[in-house]
Amino acid sequence: MIYLDNHSTTRVDPRVIATMSSMMEIDYANAGSTTHLAGREVALKVSQSIRSIASCLNLDPDLAPDELVMTSGATEANNLAIFGVCLHPRQKRRQVVSVVTEHRAVLDPIERLEQQGFEVVLLPVWPQGHELVGQIDLERASQLITDKTALVTVMHSNNEIGSFQPIQELSAICHRVGAILHTDATQTIGHESLDVSELGCDLMSFSAHKFYGPKGVGGLYVATRPSSIRLQAQILGGGQQLNRRSGTIDSVGVVGMAEALRLAVKELPEATDRDRNLRGRLWKKLQAIEGECFRLNGPALIARHRLARNLNIEVEGIEGQTLMLLCEELCMSSGSACTSAEPLPSHVLQSIGLTADQARCSIRFGVGRFTTELEIDQATSMIAESLRSVTR
Ligand SMILES: Cc1ncc(COP(=O)(O)O)c(C=O)c1O
Repeated sequence: MIYLDNHSTTRVDPRVIATMSSMMEIDYANAGSTTHLAGREVALKVSQSIRSIASCLNLDPDLAPDELVMTSGATEANNLAIFGVCLHPRQKRRQVVSVVTEHRAVLDPIERLEQQGFEVVLLPVWPQGHELVGQIDLERASQLITDKTALVTVMHSNNEIGSFQPIQELSAICHRVGAILHTDATQTIGHESLDVSELGCDLMSFSAHKFYGPKGVGGLYVATRPSSIRLQAQILGGGQQLNRRSGTIDSVGVVGMAEALRLAVKELPEATDRDRNLRGRLWKKLQAIEGECFRLNGPALIARHRLARNLNIEVEGIEGQTLMLLCEELCMSSGSACTSAEPLPSHVLQSIGLTADQARCSIRFGVGRFTTELEIDQATSMIAESLRSVTR
């Protein structure tokens, strides 16, 4: 099996597994049970891990308990950010601004808000052929974001075409009119260097399983400066995590996530170069397949606003689903993981101007830490063979 679907999830790094195993075997007490030593020891490990996550994001570790809420992943973090801000009892504004290419974990919550009477504005992105393909038009954004806007939610990098959004510039636009800026940085964190303070966002979601950590754990950064962002809790219960997210904290997951992020940040420059080279090799080898026509979807591979590990291509004359069935031993995808089971063509690809048919004929690859050059070569041979075997 060759795994080239690292946008959907990543393999847990064995070093992370080792850290988590020891937590499961020895430090299994509830971090909330501070009445006994075992609980206090776990609570200490959890708080050290949250401080470490803060440091990796260039945040002040002393503010970590206030600024980081641990969740079950990015979907929950996005829901907490969106509903938490918009449904807060003191929220008077009734408009949400987002982008057509967002993940369903943003689009679905804002659709719910629309049903509840909020005005939702979805910004378009530059089309294929434009040098900023996939990015929003900042001028348009600044016209639409006003003192009526409660929340602006724009992803940091796209999970299908890897394009970055200009979050820093957007943050200035939002803050001029007092709107709160949330960014879903699920695909960026652990893969590209990122300084939250420089970015200027108020809320930011992330998820451990995208950076070689475990599934089912993630977090939401909630700025406390210049003032604390008011969030209405979405999960009520024992009042854990300063009442912002009740429920026993996933101590094993949080410790695993911190270790995964520490490793990712430590190895970042080499990892990004490696990913870029592997992705380049894949694209070059695909283009060398005789008699086939592949088109690149999204930003140019040399563009600075594209994730190093992302490749998205249109294969002329064959549907992505068909190619995936033919290449049984090759893991790739035709959209985002949660929607790739549906036969619907990608909304992201259509947003950059592809037709539904072109979107159906597209494939997304994500190389990663465990991908080898040999695997890239084998993957392209498999694709070449499968394409030869079909009559079109
Ligand atoms: C951009 C983006 N946001 C949110 C999610 C959902 O993350 P999780 O699986 O942690 O809920 C994903 C995962 O596919 C993603 O790529």
